[in-house]
Order: sequence, then structure tokens, then C-alpha cells
Amino acid sequence: MHTQICPPTEHAIRRAAKLLEDGGLVAFPTETVYGLGANALDARAVKKIFQAKGRPADNPLIVHVASAAAAEELCHVTEEARLLMRAFWPGPLTLLLEKKPVVPDVTNAGLKSVAVRMPDHPVALKLLTACGLPVAAPSANRSGRPSPTTAQHVMDDLKGRVPLILDGGECRVGLESTVLDMTGDTPAILRPGGVTPEMLGAVVPGVRVAETAMRPLKSGETAASPGMRHTHYAPKGKLTLVEGKPDAVEAACKRLYSEAEEGGQKACLLVAEERLPVYSGYNVCPLGRSSTPETIAHALFAALREMDETGAQVILCEAVDASGIGLAVMNRLRRAAAFRVVKA
Ligand code: TXA
Ligand code: MG
Repeated sequence: MHTQICPPTEHAIRRAAKLLEDGGLVAFPTETVYGLGANALDARAVKKIFQAKGRPADNPLIVHVASAAAAEELCHVTEEARLLMRAFWPGPLTLLLEKKPVVPDVTNAGLKSVAVRMPDHPVALKLLTACGLPVAAPSANRSGRPSPTTAQHVMDDLKGRVPLILDGGECRVGLESTVLDMTGDTPAILRPGGVTPEMLGAVVPGVRVAETAMRPLKSGETAASPGMRHTHYAPKGKLTLVEGKPDAVEAACKRLYSEAEEGGQKACLLVAEERLPVYSGYNVCPLGRSSTPETIAHALFAALREMDETGAQVILCEAVDASGIGLAVMNRLRRAAAFRVVKA
């Protein structure tokens, strides 16, 4: 299959909509990351997503809609969910709600709930409106790789597996949406993302971060969100997160770096821009500014991909403050590091 990257002209969007109507796949930009879409109501089309990504069939998809009204067709929307849609849609918030029978089992891996989200990106919204369908779309990466934040990232992962990639430039947020489970007694964040716990708590009471969101699962424990169980975001090199006070972190990073180089391995540091001066003379990839953590969120996945290109075998990353969007950054970093954390 030939894969084409197209600017999102009216013509390209009509072509993309036709591909979706005909049961095909299209990769498209959202404000979070690029998605790999198919008609959410067409089981055969949705199966193609799992094949193209190499995604385990037990990992449910997010269904993208053009409006809150369109979500009502797919699931039972509670009063609290409606408040959240009004506050944060379009935007990086995915809600888990009780599924209606129209949604085929492949889309949500046979669970009782279905994930719905209205993306805040003009190209995604035009595409959803043009096809008039709910569009199931996971991140458009090969399973296990960092999510794509440019059309080229999608090409690198899915060349020959999807006919059309709509190019909307770099994604604004850079990390995936917040996944909020609305089916329990209190709303639970299964995956932290662009809408922070603080923002959610200002609209509905009792929002909590699921206990399993930030740590590895114990053996035999089930993940509330299946996607959090599989290895994720991992660069090819071995990533270690270093946490602690700045001076101790610096000393530990320099020690681990030297040990790697002495062992003949190529090392690289991932640090916030403010920290570059302390590592002059080292291989460093800057991550954005810790004073504006959204710049770190924006840069993170591209940086993890760049690690593969530079061939770094040992990657040392300074932890960031886990408040606000920093919680989502740390969630992705811990997984990318397979929970290898050094306390300096
Ligand atoms: O920002 C995003 O959310 C991007 C863009 C394309 O919208 N999409 C995305 O999809 O990140 P994906 O498939 O890579 O991640 C969806 C996450 C997975 O962790 C999945 O397990 C979880 O949401 N999820 C989806 N439906 C679920 C359900 N019914 N119950 C529990 N977890 C669910
Ligand atoms: Mg994903």
C-alpha cells in the first residue's frame, strides 16, 4: 500500500472522509497526538486499526465525535459527564461512559464502557463533520512506540499500512488526552493528560487519580485501563529516570553517564532547558522549560523518538515536578523507563 502525506485541503479532507465511509483508515492530527481513524461502528474497519498498529485486541479505542450530541448516540451520558463536556470539549479529555449497543465489541474490546472524546483541532473536526461518523482512533504509532506528534512520525511508523496521512503540523499539546472513568462512584483518572486533575476538580467533585495510574501493576493485578498494562513509549535505548534535589540529580546523572561511557555505551541526557548549563560537554537533548511544563509535554515524544535516531544506548532523564500537566509527563516517562527510577 502506498502512503501519502497531504496538507489538509478541502479536497484532501473530502478524500479522507470517503476513505472512512468506505471502511478504510486515515491518520489525522488532533491537538494531543496524531490518531489512526476508522468508522467506529464498522467492526471490519476497526479491525484494520489493530492490524496496522500491531495492537493487542484487548486494548479498547477512543471514539472521536464532532459534538457532545454525537456522543449521546454512543453511550449513556450522565449529568456530571455533561458538565465536563461543556467545560472541556472540544479538548484533551476522554470520558468513559456506559456503552450503547450500536458500538461493536471490537471498538471497546467488549467492555461495558466506551471512551468518547471531541478533539480540539480544526482538521479533526472538519474530518468528523465531513464523514458524519464517529471515528475510532488510537494514537497513530506502532504499538509500544511513543505517540506521534508530527505527520512524519506517523509515516515513520505506519508507512505502507495506511493510505493517507493528513498533515496538520506539530500537535499543540503533545501528550494524549486525560482518560476519566465516569462509570464508578467517583470520577477516576486512568491516564493523566492535557486536562489536569486540578482543572477537573474545579468542575465536578471527588475526582481522584486511579492508584494504578502512576506505578507498575503487581503480578495478577488487572489494569483499569488496558492500555496502561502494555509496555509503552519506550525508546530503543535503556531509559532511567533520576529523581531528587537538583544537585543530587546532577551528580547521579553525571555518574551514571560516565559509567555508561566507560562501559563503551553511548549515553544521552534528557533535561529541561534551564538545566543545560550544568551539563555542558555532555550529549544532551533539551526537553522544553520546567518553568512552563506544557513546553515539556509538547516536546517529550519527539525527544524520545530522537533518542532512537541518535543511537543512545543509555538515556538518563531528570524527573520533572508532577503537578499540573507534569503528572501526565511523569506518567509517560515512568512507562518509557519501564519504571526504572533512581532516587538521588
Ligand atoms: O489524545 C488521545 O487520547 C489520542 C488521540 C488520537 O485522540 N488517542 C489515544 O488513544 O491516545 P490510545 O488508543 O493510544 O489510548 C487510549 C487509552 C488506552 O490506554 C486505552 O486502554 C484506554 O484509553 N481506554 C479506551 N477505552 C477504554 C475503556 N472502555 N475502558 C478503559 N480504558 C479505555
Ligand atoms: Mg496510544
